[in-house]
This record gives sequence, structure tokens and C-alpha cells, in this order.
Amino acid sequence: MTILVTGGAGYIGSHTCVELLQSGYEIIVLDNFSNSKPKSLKRVSEITGKSFKTYQIDLVNRNKLEDVFSQNKITAVIHFAGLKAVGESVQIPLEYYHNNLTGTINLCEMMRKYEVKKLVFSSSATVYGSTGDLPIAENSRLGATNPYGRTKLMIEEILRDLYESDHNWSIALLRYFNPIGAHSSGLIGEDPKGIPNNLMPFISQVAVGKLECLNIYGNDYSTKDGTGIRDYIHVVDLAIGHIRALENLENNNGIEAFNLGTGTGYSVLDLVNAFEKATGESIPYVMKERRPGDAAVCFADPTKAMEQLGFKATRSIEMMCEDTWRWQKTNPNGYTGNLELNRKDQATVL
Ligand code: NAD
Ligand code: UD1
Repeated sequence: MTILVTGGAGYIGSHTCVELLQSGYEIIVLDNFSNSKPKSLKRVSEITGKSFKTYQIDLVNRNKLEDVFSQNKITAVIHFAGLKAVGESVQIPLEYYHNNLTGTINLCEMMRKYEVKKLVFSSSATVYGSTGDLPIAENSRLGATNPYGRTKLMIEEILRDLYESDHNWSIALLRYFNPIGAHSSGLIGEDPKGIPNNLMPFISQVAVGKLECLNIYGNDYSTKDGTGIRDYIHVVDLAIGHIRALENLENNNGIEAFNLGTGTGYSVLDLVNAFEKATGESIPYVMKERRPGDAAVCFADPTKAMEQLGFKATRSIEMMCEDTWRWQKTNPNGYTGNLELNRKDQATVL
């Protein structure tokens, strides 16, 4: 079976490519490298000992996209490609709507034309907007608070309409909670551009000496230590969740949303402490005002994914910290370092 992975060079995509190859799937990667480097794919080849085709294509470009479908027999698509920075989406909403929505519509049109009707879509816990009841189940109230989140909600709706128009589609909407960590090899991991917005990459860049001090946004929430609580999930567990979702699509038509989280919440200070303990590095921090738009507490009810997909995240917060640190300290500049000199390029960049 051949799986087309859009955005496969990115953080979650590259980890999922590893799990797909190791599970015996053939893969084809499509990425425009707007937020990633081809080097991540060379590392995927290095970890797995397998090669695969890569297309450097923008999903917004319909003509080039058709080449991928006409030249290959694709069984299913995992669709990661999209812009994902909340703050940036507020600054340049049109770019976000154009990239994420047009890209997805082009992809679905091509899938329909070539009779590829199995799709796993990267949604986000951000579609739950301001959270009400906890833990958050899939039937909780939806509502996004920024353009990025709205692209995810809109795409979920577009995909529901698509299924309504043709019940031969099988679609999984995977709502990720907070992916962190890296592959245990230390060869692939998260490589944010510029100063990280998210907590874990910020912590690891403080640890490696690239940033001086962590700003903790808010210590006056009504949580056990006043800092925000999130459901951090190891990126390898998340990647495995995609394999379970694909297996489920093989036997079931329909469209279903699934939370991918652990069901456990950790505070910012919990994560700082776990990181210090796991790595022996100290993380200086200062308390700052709350970050606008942040919820106090957010964690998943993971029951549906457990019952219907047989998916359960197993990697601990300690492992998330150790694996992040292994990646960060051996690749202090992410994929822009020069550790690649002697590595063999097994990916075919077309
Ligand atoms: P990422 O930026 O590392 O990966 C996305 C990849 O898509 C990048 O390689 C980028 O170059 C590519 N891309 C973007 N637009 C494209 C286009 N028009 N055509 C072709 N390629 C394009 O992000 P990630 O963290 O791996 O996230 C993957 C998906 O999961 C995204 O859709 C994101 O919104 C979603 N998601 C991520 C998180 C998270 O915390 N990382 C949480 C929830 C949901
Ligand atoms: C953020 C996005 C969310 C997106 C998710 C994954 C916002 C408002 N939300 O979620 O839409 O799906 O990333 O990409 O941007 N924190 C600090 N200091 C920092 C960074 C974060 O204290 O330097 C705190 C935050 O206040 C929060 C927790 O750490 O309590 C986690 O933050 P982050 O990693 O940015 O994830 P989310 O806010 O959950």
C-alpha cells in the first residue's frame, strides 16, 4: 500500500514517515519545504534504511499536484501540509486561508479524480476553542479563536460535506493535543524557525544556551501551581496514532474525529521540572503576564481513540523530555547544522 504524505518533511510528518516505513507501508512525500528542510527526509531514510519518492510541490499548485496522482498508484493520503503558527495567522490571515483551505481543496479534488478516497487529516485541539468541560471529548462544543484554528474547523466542515456527497470516502479527523518529544535516535525532531512560540522547543533552546530564560505566561490561573495545564503527547505516539487511523480507514467508510492525547494534564512548571530532572540541565524562568488567548487547562478524553482505533499513548513525560533533549543537543541548530557531511542521501528529490 502506498501512502501519500503531504507535509511529510515537517515535525509530525517526518516522525509519521518513520512509523509508516517501519510498518511496511510504501510512502510518497509531498512538501514545499516552506517550514521544513529536505534533510529531515534524508534522516527518515537513514533511520529506516528505506528510500522513497519526494515531490517538492506546493499543494496550491493544482497542475503539479496532478503529476503526483497520475504517476503513482496511491492508496490513501495523510494530510499534514499546512501553516500552523497562531500568532502569524492573525497577522496574515489571507495567506493562512489560502494555503490551508486551497491546498486541501486541491488535494481532495485530485483524490476524487483518481478515486483515492481514504484521508487522514491533521486537525487540532484548537478546534475546541475556549474549553468548557474537562476532559475534552470529541462531542464538546467547537469554536476557534484565531484564523489558524478557523482553517482547521473549516476544513473539518469541508470534509464532512465531501463525505455527505459520496459515502465511499473514509476520513479521520485527528485532533492533536500538544505534541512534543523527538525520535529516540536523535536524528529527527522539531526545528522551529526563529524564536519558538511553543513551550517545549523554548525550554530546550534555553537548555542548549540559545535562549537565556523561559518566560512563563501566567502564574495566576486556578491550577495547582497557577501555571497553564496541557496534554503533552510524545510525537512518536502521535505518529503511531496515524497508523491506527489508517488501519481503521481500511475497513470503515465514514468520517470521524478522534482526539490524540494522553488524557493527562501537566502544568508549565511540571514540564520545566521534568525536563530538568530528565536532562540535568537547569532552566531559568521568569513569571510574565498571561498570554492572550490561552486557556488555563486543556486535556483530552482519549477514550474514543482507544475504543475505536485501539490507540493509547504510552510514552511518559520523562521520555518526552529525554528525547527532546537528545535531538536538541546533537542538533543545536536543527537541520541547518553541518552534521550531514557524510550521510547518504536515500530520498529521491524530484
Ligand atoms: P510543520 O510546519 O513542521 O509541517 C508542515 C509541513 O507542511 C511543512 O514541512 C511545510 O513545509 C509543509 N507545507 C505547508 N504548506 C504547504 C503547501 N501549501 N504545500 C506543500 N507543503 C506545505 O508542522 P507540524 O507541527 O508537523 O504539523 C503538521 C500538521 O499538524 C499541520 O497541519 C498542523 O496544523 C497540525 N497540528 C500541529 C500541531 C503541533 O503542535 N505541531 C498541533 C495540532 C495540529
Ligand atoms: C498553542 C496554540 C494552539 C496550537 C498548539 C500547538 C496558542 C494560543 N495556541 O497551544 O493553537 O494548536 O500551540 O501548536 O498559541 N507557555 C509559556 N511560555 C512559553 C510558551 C508557552 O509559559 O514561552 C505556556 C502557555 O501559556 C501554555 C503552555 O505553556 O500554558 C503550552 O503552550 P504552547 O506550547 O504554546 O501550546 P498551546 O498554548 O497549548
